[in-house]
Amino acid sequence: MPVKLVFATNNRHKLEEVSAKLDGAIELVTLHDIGCDEDIEETGATFYENASIKSQYVYQNYKLDCFGDDSGLEVEALNGEPGVYSARYAGEHGNHDANIQKVLEKLGDAANRRARFISVISLMWNGSEHFFEGTVEGTIRHERTGTGGFGYDPIFQPDSFDITFAEMTLEEKNMLSHRARAVEKLVAFLNRQNH
Ligand code: IMP
Repeated sequence: MPVKLVFATNNRHKLEEVSAKLDGAIELVTLHDIGCDEDIEETGATFYENASIKSQYVYQNYKLDCFGDDSGLEVEALNGEPGVYSARYAGEHGNHDANIQKVLEKLGDAANRRARFISVISLMWNGSEHFFEGTVEGTIRHERTGTGGFGYDPIFQPDSFDITFAEMTLEEKNMLSHRARAVEKLVAFLNRQNH
């Protein structure tokens, strides 16, 4: 019997990426599937707090095992911005094009283009909370390239590659992305629980 686990998200890109990392041992259930159409507000100051807010919301209201993830981009020359504000950096939540524009304008011609993506997962499992973190290092391109993925993918080039996340297939991005790395830790934890 697969383990049923709620993924506290309505982001179909995230769902697609995480589902592709799982084998048949874990069956993902979305917020929509459990009848939760609430837009859970991310009021925390850190990725950990925001991930926790999502998993706690589901656990408190539905008493189900679940996990939430919070993720974002940290640009070194911008003192870690956009950080926890990644989804709404330019004001409007989820306006990826405006968010990219703001990063490119603030960075200008800066020589230091180091950046990293980070993903933090908070898992509520048998009433206890567990965290898993994944990161991927890279650089910010001067302009957008590629049409795949979502968010800042068209301007993020991971180290050791000469293409952006948006030029990769989902399988390629899922070999090295921050979210993939956090999910691998989550899966390893769940596998250990089954023995
Ligand atoms: P969250 O739903 O609060 O975790 O929002 C994360 C935001 O960070 C997204 O809206 C994107 O702007 C950015 N982000 C997180 N992961 C990725 C990714 O894999 N590619 C591109 N942008 C991402």
